[in-house]
Amino acid sequence: MNALHHLWKQLLERELEQRAGEAAEAEVRWRPRLHIAPPIGWLNDPNGLCQYQGLYHAFYQFSPFQPEGGLKFWGHCTSRDLLHWTFEGAPLAPDQPEDCHGVYSGSALVENGSMHLYYTGNVKETGDHDFINTGRRSSTMLAISRDGRTVEAKELLMTQNDYPADLTCHVRDPKIWKQEGIYYMVQGARTKENKGVILLFSSEDKRHWRYLGRFESKEDFGYMWECPDLYELDGQTVLSISPQGVKAEGLKYANLYQSVTCFLEGDFCKGAQVKDFRELDGGFDFYAPQTFLGDDGRRIQIAWMGMPDVEELYTNPTVKDGWQHMMTIPRELSIQNGVLCQNPVRELEHWWNCSHSFVGDFEGAIEPCCELALSTEGEALEVILAGGLRLRYQRDEKIFRMEFTDSLLGAGRTTRGREVEDLKSLRILIDVSSVEVFLNNGSDVFTTRFYPEEHAYTVKIHGPDCRGTYYIHS
Ligand code: FRU
Repeated sequence: MNALHHLWKQLLERELEQRAGEAAEAEVRWRPRLHIAPPIGWLNDPNGLCQYQGLYHAFYQFSPFQPEGGLKFWGHCTSRDLLHWTFEGAPLAPDQPEDCHGVYSGSALVENGSMHLYYTGNVKETGDHDFINTGRRSSTMLAISRDGRTVEAKELLMTQNDYPADLTCHVRDPKIWKQEGIYYMVQGARTKENKGVILLFSSEDKRHWRYLGRFESKEDFGYMWECPDLYELDGQTVLSISPQGVKAEGLKYANLYQSVTCFLEGDFCKGAQVKDFRELDGGFDFYAPQTFLGDDGRRIQIAWMGMPDVEELYTNPTVKDGWQHMMTIPRELSIQNGVLCQNPVRELEHWWNCSHSFVGDFEGAIEPCCELALSTEGEALEVILAGGLRLRYQRDEKIFRMEFTDSLLGAGRTTRGREVEDLKSLRILIDVSSVEVFLNNGSDVFTTRFYPEEHAYTVKIHGPDCRGTYYIHS
């Protein structure tokens, strides 16, 4: 640990101590019970997701001293059940010439008892720059942890000179995996023609990387592609991308930035043209998803339950409590009938220990952390949460909608919708200030933050043919 890292560590500890002393009622009121959230400050992308020596580890983009976002560290938390997380500190801090303006996103490769953490070192040079074509350095860095808590000396693996010459300075977010004895890496990038692409590299020793090719779209699909992921799932090769600059198309691509997947045909090893993107989420707060393979073979995805650069559109009132943003619930992925499905990890079903079933309309107070599982065959279904978040489906319209009718509840969020051929079932997971709705066994998902007043946790369900169960942990 160098002197700067030591200083950051002390500052963080002092800030946390001070906060613990102050811990006012208001500060805890919107804190999730089952989701990853920062103890203080700002959180964005999940990083370095893995299972290491039996524990689940999640790192994340973390600005500990600025709830509105600022200089990025990697925050770290661990869990035994993917639902209850313990904060472990910030093992990666901006303490090197190559990452002094941010330890940006990346991933973990666990091998031979060591955690290899790959990330982007961000540097903004002084001077008059656009920071797109000049003035920014994005280096590929490696830090190894042998105890799952602290890291050894950081290594510089690649600089701008190692990336293809037609790219801008925006190259970042390495995701690494091993397949048939070879290491692969994908990185997000923006070309000088303002086209988003994903770069593919390979290596035989985890340190020396060779550029193999790229994934790109023939059609215009945004100026920058961030946070890529590539994985095998149920016989398909899935490429996951977070593109910026995709134009809205009817109900599609309604958020400022997107998160999409597509299936790759054939051997991915040279890159390819990609198409037929599908949005991973239809709600307001979902970005930069990443996956990892659990020891039991499950492909688990966690995404940032947030969106960059939307402050003028919608906000999160937790900022005044000194923290902002959280992750989605870890979701098990599967492909069913050709569609990528996301469902909460099965640990959640074991966590609920009290339930109540009902048929037809249902109305009443609910716990701030609970689940509602519904099945319907009727013509219409309407669920109103906290008096001002309406979820509705009408069979003749074939659109599922998530609509805030109370602007304070949504802190500026308005409406989203998505075509859904036939609504049969939905699971609504509510965790104090978040709502995740899983339709038809996770083939469509809507994710949003919401901010009910303390005594406003209620539900009103109107659906004549609806059957439901309400779950809590008591
Ligand atoms: C995505 C992102 C990444 C970058 C990180 C910085 O939200 O912009 O591309 O590495 O956030 O915090």
